[in-house]
Amino acid sequence: MEPTKYIWMDGEFVLWEEAKVHALTHALHYGSGAFEGLRAYETPEGPALFRVQEHFERLFYSTKAIGMEIPFSVEELEEATLELVRRNELEHCYIRPLAFYGYGKMGLNPTDAPVQVMIACWPWGAYLPHEMVDLKVSSYIRIHPKSTVADAKICGHYVNSILAVRELIGTDFHEALFLDYEGNIAEGPGENFFLVKGGTVKTPPLGNVLAGITRETVMELLKGEGYTTVEAQISLEEALEADEAFFTGTAAEVTPIRSIDGKILGSGSIGPVSQMTKQLYFDTVRGKKEDFRKYISFARR
Ligand SMILES: Cc1ncc(COP(=O)(O)O)c(C=O)c1O
Repeated sequence: MEPTKYIWMDGEFVLWEEAKVHALTHALHYGSGAFEGLRAYETPEGPALFRVQEHFERLFYSTKAIGMEIPFSVEELEEATLELVRRNELEHCYIRPLAFYGYGKMGLNPTDAPVQVMIACWPWGAYLPHEMVDLKVSSYIRIHPKSTVADAKICGHYVNSILAVRELIGTDFHEALFLDYEGNIAEGPGENFFLVKGGTVKTPPLGNVLAGITRETVMELLKGEGYTTVEAQISLEEALEADEAFFTGTAAEVTPIRSIDGKILGSGSIGPVSQMTKQLYFDTVRGKKEDFRKYISFARR
């Protein structure tokens, strides 16, 4: 991780090395926080933050699930993020907002624990550093929607993802794939799943997966190209017979999938719909698609 100069913490810009918390921070013990991940892309008009408003709106949705009231507005957090990117003099970066229950109260009920908010950013290239990825179906299922608010981006949920990616250590697989409690495809540990079969694009429905902002963007982009994405359950058997498949996510962007559990999908090379989606996505986040510039906030200096 490449340190930058400042981290925004509880309303102030503090030096990277000084952005610290107490050892008895509630969230450190119980995962009682929620986070976001967004990116700023380099453009001739300055760093372009993609869908910053939607990311903070989702943060508020996630924190609401754990009864947390963030002592800032979406607009204040947006402005803090733009200013942070400016102050850190970055042309492109990954941005990590986090809201969490802090120090002052122990025990599971977080009521009365102080709420802390931080935003950090640093240069972070491709999350999945391969043109295409080989997936392993995880032996863990994606968290059950009746065990938690499954579509909130709550810190504690990510132990599920950590377990899945730890299973890959020492294997040749690049990323994990979760099934849901019914055995259908859910998503990756940090990515939504899409497949293409006979010209139809399909993705698992919302409810048991994160409502990915990239997922939504890609569906909108594909619609513009005449593809209506079908949101429906996908069995593992159906996924293995796909012509193409790809992951979407802020970190993973659009990453084509080569194989699942060793079974090569389609031709084994990047399919035409995946290639087109990837290109459309990169053009969009770099502000090259006029209709989608509404999603971009420039951190001009
Ligand atoms: C579990 C999970 N699924 C999907 C995604 C993709 O979401 P987005 O496109 O909003 O980054 C993420 C990343 O936030 C995630 O953590």
